[in-house]
Amino acid sequence: MLPIPAFSFARVPPIHFGTGKIAQLPTLIQQQGGRCVLIVMGQRSLQASGQLELIQTLLRDAELHTHWIACQEEPTTQFIDATCKQYRGQSVDAVVAIGGGSVVDAGKALSAMLPHDNSIFDHLEGVGKGLPHSGIKLPFIAVPTTSGTGGEVTKNAVISEVGEAGYKKSLRHDNLVPDAVIIDGNLLVTCPRSVTAACGLDAFTQLVEPFLSPTATPLTDAIAWSGLKAFQANFLAACSEGAQDPQVREGMAYASLMSGIALANAGLGIVHGLASPLGGYFPIPHGVACGTLVAVAMTTNWQALKARSPNSPAIAKLVRLGQLLSGAPGHNDDWYGEACGELLHQWTDQLAIPRLSSYGITAGHLDKILDGTRNRNNPVALSREEIQAMLESRL
Ligand SMILES: [Fe+2]
Repeated sequence: MLPIPAFSFARVPPIHFGTGKIAQLPTLIQQQGGRCVLIVMGQRSLQASGQLELIQTLLRDAELHTHWIACQEEPTTQFIDATCKQYRGQSVDAVVAIGGGSVVDAGKALSAMLPHDNSIFDHLEGVGKGLPHSGIKLPFIAVPTTSGTGGEVTKNAVISEVGEAGYKKSLRHDNLVPDAVIIDGNLLVTCPRSVTAACGLDAFTQLVEPFLSPTATPLTDAIAWSGLKAFQANFLAACSEGAQDPQVREGMAYASLMSGIALANAGLGIVHGLASPLGGYFPIPHGVACGTLVAVAMTTNWQALKARSPNSPAIAKLVRLGQLLSGAPGHNDDWYGEACGELLHQWTDQLAIPRLSSYGITAGHLDKILDGTRNRNNPVALSREEIQAMLESRL
């Protein structure tokens, strides 16, 4: 008997995956009843890929009326409120986001707030008035051009305010899952190496944390494992000789996509618990925060599990992961468990993932960061001292 635990599974949008799929964008907009569309994009990478002109032609040929907005940074309440103010009353009837994780978050937040008069701040978890969002929103299509956050399949938009009283908080509602997703390798090939590396490690973290989560189910395990296999096969190539290969890029985009579905249904662990205060207080991109910490988190979790939770199913999962990542046959369980962290450390060095101190973070800041950190769905509860040691090792 294999008992299946009780679970709920979040809605997944229709996904259009593959090289050339961007050609479906006009039809998808029209299917959502859209004629007048707000296109939010991160312009640099798209212009570099030569895809911007193609997208403009596709939309023009379909006689869609478009407003274009550039969004380069992680979205703030001010950006969302000001853009909503500008476009309310212009009968926008759909939003499309073409860009990295921040752009997808911005598009998701705009689609959620355009039909309402109030500030998005009212609905942010843990900082504003905490008012629930009604779920009434404009149709939203996500077209990611980086492979990392998985935000194209999740129901929250992360809004940031960086600084002394900074935060990184979510606007969240089941209805905010995008109405359609297009993932096209041609839009991914010009993503720079540093972004590919950091986002790739974020996607890995978003696969491994749900995989090891106490709330994992056979369904989320299957999804996370499928993403981990795609990550293992494509990550180093995407950061080097395979960067221009749409199929390699699509391998990483698949890993990211699976990570979004896995995290939405099994939660995240200590790396993401730390990424929120780090990203709120310091100008560190989310991918870098996760990428710089994931190796030491793997090692810390393995050691804590072995010492305090030897019967945890996460131990066998880490052994299986060590087998996948190393590809080396014939070792014992301890070797594979330790190999996970060791390989990640190697990649972190090889890809020159920045340290925390590159963003002005010093030992004097650690208490404040630790006060804002949660263990979340980590496979084992870590002490404040263990988490502090993780941060210290990456200063
Ligand atoms: Fe993440």
